[in-house]
Amino acid sequence: GPLFPTFTRQEVACHHSEANRVWVTYGSDVFDITDFIEQHPGGKSKILLAAGGALEPFWALYAMHNQEHVLEILRGFKVGEL
Ligand code: HEM
Repeated sequence: GPLFPTFTRQEVACHHSEANRVWVTYGSDVFDITDFIEQHPGGKSKILLAAGGALEPFWALYAMHNQEHVLEILRGFKVGEL
């Protein structure tokens, strides 16, 4: 597969608002989800709760994300790895 740059969790945490782009992690993958925020079916305020950090704690509560079509969307926004 393609080689992605690596980032630290601290670097990901800097991307917590739209001004700096919004990044999240899932497993050891890093995603820039800025261009998806306005399209999120669960709304902008909810998706921004995960900004700069891990999706897992939120997706544990909102289990509708554990579907292939959701992971497919996420994959399209991958920018790096931890
Ligand atoms: C629904 C994607 C983050 C809360 C959805 C759906 C998608 C999606 C595709 C529709 C699922 C379906 O009905 O089949 C994403 C992606 C995320 C993300 C790609 C991160 C990059 C979050 C976070 C939260 C959240 C962090 C909560 C803090 C919700 C809720 C719904 C939803 C409540 C249900 C909306 C409804 O059906 O009324 N999300 N989501 N999402 N999401 Fe997210």
